[in-house]
Amino acid sequence: MISAIALAGSGVVAAANELAAGKKVFRKCIACHAVGVKARNKVGPVLNGLEGRAAGTIPGFNYSKANKNSGLTWDEPTFLEYIKNPRKKIPRTKMVFAGIKKEKDARALWKYIIQFGPDGKKKS
Ligand code: HEC
Repeated sequence: MISAIALAGSGVVAAANELAAGKKVFRKCIACHAVGVKARNKVGPVLNGLEGRAAGTIPGFNYSKANKNSGLTWDEPTFLEYIKNPRKKIPRTKMVFAGIKKEKDARALWKYIIQFGPDGKKKS
């Protein structure tokens, strides 16, 4: 019983650590992307509600044809492949970003981003 509680507790800590790590990785995106209730499109589109969102669908953002017509839907495997090398996954995208090469960082980043629902509020 006690060990079960300790295990559950360490799971919570691990998840919290991953979110903290993801937030740190997100610093690489912040010049161009925002999340949260006050998020606005910047050089890149708002990343709220990313999980399950079709690529190229944030209103008022001027996407490249490459992104808009990519036919992608943002889920974890798609995101991980994309963020490793955006120009490989979406040739001629106008996102100028070399990529996140470490899969562990990319996974933490995904966890961080998908906390934010379409309205920018954190899902609980
Ligand atoms: C230098 C600016 C810049 C940086 C840095 C940047 N992005 Fe982007 N991002 C863009 C632009 C511009 C687009 C739109 C691409 C297009 O239309 O071809 C985009 C598009 C995207 C999309 C597709 C969104 C959609 O609605 O289809 C995702 C996901 C994304 N970026 C994630 C990230 C993440 C995560 C990071 C940080 C690791 C990041 N980007 C860093 C500029 C940037």
